[in-house]
Amino acid sequence: MSLLVTDVGRLVSWAPDAPTTDAALVLDDGVVAWVGPASEAPACDDVLSAEGGCVLPGFVDSHTHLVFGGDRVAEFTARLAGKPYAAGGIRTTVAATRAASNDVLLASAQRLATEALRSGTTTLEVKSGYGLTVEDERRCLAVASSVSRHTTFLGAHVVPEGSDPEAYTALVAGDMLDACAPLATGVDAFCEEGAFTVDQCREVLSAGAARGLHVHVHANQLGPGGGVQLAASLGAASADHCTHLSDEDVSALRDAAVVAVLVPAAEFSTRSVYAPARRLLDAGVTVALATDCNPGTSFTTSMPFVVALACRELGLTPAEAVRAATVGGAAALRDPSVGHLGVGARADLVVLAAPSEDYLAYRPGVDLVRHVVKEGVVVR
Ligand code: NIG
Ligand code: FE
Repeated sequence: MSLLVTDVGRLVSWAPDAPTTDAALVLDDGVVAWVGPASEAPACDDVLSAEGGCVLPGFVDSHTHLVFGGDRVAEFTARLAGKPYAAGGIRTTVAATRAASNDVLLASAQRLATEALRSGTTTLEVKSGYGLTVEDERRCLAVASSVSRHTTFLGAHVVPEGSDPEAYTALVAGDMLDACAPLATGVDAFCEEGAFTVDQCREVLSAGAARGLHVHVHANQLGPGGGVQLAASLGAASADHCTHLSDEDVSALRDAAVVAVLVPAAEFSTRSVYAPARRLLDAGVTVALATDCNPGTSFTTSMPFVVALACRELGLTPAEAVRAATVGGAAALRDPSVGHLGVGARADLVVLAAPSEDYLAYRPGVDLVRHVVKEGVVVR
């Protein structure tokens, strides 16, 4: 069943030879089969009119924590009154997650994934990290696998109440990884004061890498530290957050080709300073934008909101922000099949109810998504 996408006001495809105006696409068998001038488009079984709207690759949200029980609205409200964020808040969600049934966790993760899809996210990475026992991490990853093909084992999220940090780290790198690796495509660790040390993270991440998992690191979020250098030394796919960076950290990311996944909605929600995105881009680091959707620091699934924040607070142009939210996310996930609309890419795209990507920043908070197509199927 082929689908012609036409009446495109502007096409952002990131494909070097594709036109940006008077363009059309043909989607067939779940992939982009043709892209070129509308006047040369072949006949198709069906037509989707963009009605003059801008067409973008579907957003690639490369960092989410979608599997959890309960919420932390009380903590958020206290933060509005001046209480600072601390890593220990994670334990509140761990208790609620352990108490939730598999069905409840799945229903909640599916609801959030659907919410994300409606705002244009067609690829989503989903982490565990609120179970923190072998069985609870395993079932969180089983839930994650039902909502996404990009799943990350984050047993090293925080040391559970009453556990010895070294013994818990050994468990994560041993039995927990054994149980979780078959359900995961990536491994992550929270390298931060109040969470795990550089050495503890290295133990977990190296064990995950030895199992063939892509390495991600929650790095330099709450303060300066060794997380980014660790990511570079391990040849990680991504270093995420990157809020507090030295010049040496920026060079290390560039030299090791580690993607910096920036999550400005977390900085917005925790009233943090923002990541030095311009320094990263100007140094030649590949930057991705993600929601970091989680109940503690960033309870949003909206990539359009993240793009708007990146323009206003990180100093990106709308084109740079959309690039980071699409092809940048794909690089962080090491998935070249998404994030662009070249021939052979997955047929995942967004049609905006606006003539250019600039409107995502210009009209923040407004639902500008006219259509979403995932694997060639019009889902919105
Ligand atoms: O990415 N930094 C660690 N993990 C999450 C926060 C998790 C939580 O507070 O529940 C983050 O911000
Ligand atoms: Fe996170």
